[in-house]
Order: sequence, then C-alpha cells, then structure tokens
Amino acid sequence: MSQVISVGVITVSDRAAAGEYEDHGGPAVRQACSENGWEVIAEAVIPDDEDRISRTILSFSRQGCGLILTTGGTGIALRDVTPEAIRGIMRVEIPGFGETMRMRSLEITPNAILSRSLAAIVERSLVIALPGKPSGAVECLDFVKGAIPHTVKLAVGVPTSC
Ligand code: MTE
Repeated sequence: MSQVISVGVITVSDRAAAGEYEDHGGPAVRQACSENGWEVIAEAVIPDDEDRISRTILSFSRQGCGLILTTGGTGIALRDVTPEAIRGIMRVEIPGFGETMRMRSLEITPNAILSRSLAAIVERSLVIALPGKPSGAVECLDFVKGAIPHTVKLAVGVPTSC
C-alpha cells in the first residue's frame, strides 16, 4: 500500500498574517493536497520574514511533515524572501522542480518568469516553494506532483528501488 504523505502548508504573506485580507492560498493548496490523497497535519500563516519562515519549516519538519508546501514570497518584491529562507536551512536544492514549475507556468502566463519557485531537502522533508497567487500555487503543484511521492520517500529515508 502506498504511504500517505503528511503535509505542512505555510502561507507566507505580510498582509494575510496581519489579518488585512483572508488567506486564500493556504486553503487552495490544502484542497489540492486532499485531492491527491495527502494529509495536511500542520498549517500556518506567517509574515514575509526570513527567520520566521525558516523556523516554521524546521518546526513542521520535526512534527513529521514529509512534504512542506509554502505559498508566497517567491517573487522579486523587497519583502519576497521565501527562497532565501529555504536556502539558509536546506541540505540540497532540487533544481528540476523549479525549472519545471517555471517552464510549464510560462505556457499560462509570461509573469511566471518572475517566480523564484524551488524545491529542497530540509532535514527529512521535501520543501516546495510555490507562488502566492492561489491558482498559480495549485498549477505549480500540479506540474510537479508526479515526482512528489518518490522524492518524499527518499527525503524521509524509506528504502526505495532507485
Ligand atoms: N505561476 C503560475 N502558474 N501562475 C501564475 O499566475 N504568477 C506569477 C508567478 N508564477 C503565476 C505564476 C507572478 S505574477 C509572480 S509575481 C510570481 O509568481 C511570484 O509570486 P509570489 O511573489 O506571490 O510568490
């Protein structure tokens, strides 16, 4: 039987964290996870603060999330620091995820070139940074979801055949 993936979802947004607007990104990602048969076990809405992002990822990893999805802060605005936060704590980056998300998203919008989306291994978790727009986050997740179960198995240390 295939293993259920335990997921942490982190919305990274100053305004959503301050309650200035409702978070739509987290719920959209959570819905996509349940459609894939994955179980969301931790959720957070936090500001675009490098230290907060890193600490939340590490906390979710230590709670047993094999997959951690962030949404927001991947662009080029002054406060967009999600990639830096992940790179500060990762063991390795997996460039194919970011390449695929950008390449496939460019078929939908030229603005996808602005996203610095990435994936990395942090401790025993696969972390994927998705863009902040809810539809863009779900699209990007969809483009890479085929590789997620195997990558999570490798990240958590389950022996696999390749
Ligand atoms: N990717 C997809 N698939 N769909 C989108 O609508 N929006 C882009 C891009 N990637 C988008 C997308 C836009 S407009 C921006 S600014 C960047 O993601 C970065 O978004 P973020 O800073 O909210 O993470």
